[in-house]
Amino acid sequence: MSPDTVLDVTALPAIPRPGRVLMTSPDHFEVAYVINPHMAGNVGEVDRQRARGQWEALRETYERLGVETAVVAGATGLPDMVFCANQTLPYQTPGGERGVVLSRMHAAQRKPEVDHYERFFQGEGYETHGLDPDLPGDFEGMGDAIWHPGRYLLWGGYGYRTDPQVYTRLGDKLGFPVRTLSLTDPDFYHLDTCFCPLDEETALIYPGAFDADGLATIRAHFRRTIEAPESEARTLFACNAHSPDGEHVIIQRGCTETAALLQAGGYQPVEVDTDEFLKSGGSVFCMKLMYW
Ligand code: ARG
Repeated sequence: MSPDTVLDVTALPAIPRPGRVLMTSPDHFEVAYVINPHMAGNVGEVDRQRARGQWEALRETYERLGVETAVVAGATGLPDMVFCANQTLPYQTPGGERGVVLSRMHAAQRKPEVDHYERFFQGEGYETHGLDPDLPGDFEGMGDAIWHPGRYLLWGGYGYRTDPQVYTRLGDKLGFPVRTLSLTDPDFYHLDTCFCPLDEETALIYPGAFDADGLATIRAHFRRTIEAPESEARTLFACNAHSPDGEHVIIQRGCTETAALLQAGGYQPVEVDTDEFLKSGGSVFCMKLMYW
C-alpha cells in the first residue's frame, strides 16, 4: 500500500509530544456483543466494580507520571466507549495548529460514540473534521493511526477496522507522510495491539501480526525494535502499552518477558492491571487518547 520509500525520520518536521490524555469513565462498560475474537465467551462477564478500580488506578498512574488527564463521561448503551483511543485522531501540525479527525467506526454498535468526542474537542477549541463524504471506508482513530513520536509522520494499520485509502486522503489534506501496515492476524485487529512506538528510534512490536513488507517498513524507520513474545502479546496485550514520556512504559501486569526487555532497553515498565478490559480486547493504549 505505502510507496515504500524509506523516510529519513530525523529530517521530518518535528511535533511536540502530546502532554495530555483523555479517558472515558467506565460506568457503562461491559461486554455486550462480540466484534473481536477476545470478546468471545466474555459477554456479561465484566466485573464493573473491579473495572472501575482498574480504570481509576490507570488514571492515577498518568497523574503520577505528570500527565494531565481529562474525562469524558461514558454513556448508557455504549459499552465500548471506554476505549477512547478509537473515536478520533487528534493532531498538531508542525505549524502549531490543533485539530481532530473524527472516526467512522466499523461496527454499527460503536458508531454513536463519535459525537461525544466531537463535543469534547469543540469545547477544547479544536478544529474537528469528519472524513470526506465521497471517501468510502472506515477509520478507527488512534486504534489504527499512531503518530511517530516527535515527528509529523503517521503509522496506519489496516485490514480489520480501518480502510487504507483513508490514510492517503488524510495525509494529502493535512500534509504528513503515512506508512501503512497490513494487519494479518484477527487477534491483532487494531494497530495498537501490536505496535507501540516508545520514542523516535524505538518501537515495541509483536512481529507475528505483520507481513514481511510491514515488518521491513517498521525496521527501516526505527533504529531498534523490542519484540514481545507471542503469549504476552496475544493474551496480555503487551504491545498495547504506552510511553507518555519516552522513559516510562505503562503496561499490563504479567508481561514479565516484555518488561524485562523494556528494562534492558533502558525503559522503566510501570505495571497496571487492566484484565477486566482485556475481556473486551483492550488494555492501556486503548483506554486513553493522547492530545495536545
Ligand atoms: N471491544 C472494543 C472493540 O472491539 C475494544 C477496542 C479496543 N481498542 C483498541 N484501540 N484496540 O472494538
